[in-house]
Amino acid sequence: MREKIVAGNWKMNLDLNEGKELIIDIVDKGVNANVTSIISPPFTHLQTFKTMLSHTNIALAAQNCHQQDEGAFTGEVSVKMLKSVGVQYIILGHSERREYFQEDSLSISFKVNNVLKHGLKPIYCCGETLAQRQDGEHFETIRLQIEQGLFQLNELELINCIIAYEPVWAIGTGETASPEQAQEMHAFIRNTIANRYGEITANNISILYGGSVKPSNANELFACSDIDGGLIGGASLDADSFIALTNSF
Ligand code: 13P
Repeated sequence: MREKIVAGNWKMNLDLNEGKELIIDIVDKGVNANVTSIISPPFTHLQTFKTMLSHTNIALAAQNCHQQDEGAFTGEVSVKMLKSVGVQYIILGHSERREYFQEDSLSISFKVNNVLKHGLKPIYCCGETLAQRQDGEHFETIRLQIEQGLFQLNELELINCIIAYEPVWAIGTGETASPEQAQEMHAFIRNTIANRYGEITANNISILYGGSVKPSNANELFACSDIDGGLIGGASLDADSFIALTNSF
């Protein structure tokens, strides 16, 4: 059985005090213990949250990392540093990083390698723009993102990756992919992996959907056979919504 996962990507929202209040609220109310719950706050909050979450089953993710362990890279944070404060997962290649910070699948693949080298798990994001979907290029776009970002890995490495499909046109727009559209792309991603690594490996990888997921649409999405949970933006900034999402399977 594949792992069911709900990961909250806070993006650049909430200062430390606001974040602590939200964590207290989430811990008090309690997430579904049968689901892997992950919270990904800004870097500045990680160490404090690690202490606050130490007696819970909520794991921490960072939203980015550098591909080197150390050196003259002003403003960057390495996987080694993130591991030292208790981070277990790292979101890589989010469309906002691809769009605003010029990341591409090849540069992200180096980060994937470094995350795995340190024994952490990458949450590798892929997704097409509205123009790419309208031009009928969505499958090819996703195939290339998966191949260029992940196919340098061997099977044992790939098995430690989580994939998040986030159509760019559905992020923060209130526009969600229909369960049919999302399932179709998740099955395509799994099939792309199966062609290279075999069915068994492909069937063991959790593929999350992201893009305007909220408690009102999560049940339908999470019920799809190739959707193993969600990478959640806006709805993860509210304790009741985040908890409801962990109960939406
Ligand atoms: P929203 O849930 O706010 O659309 O954001 C999705 C996302 O980008 C999660 O990484």
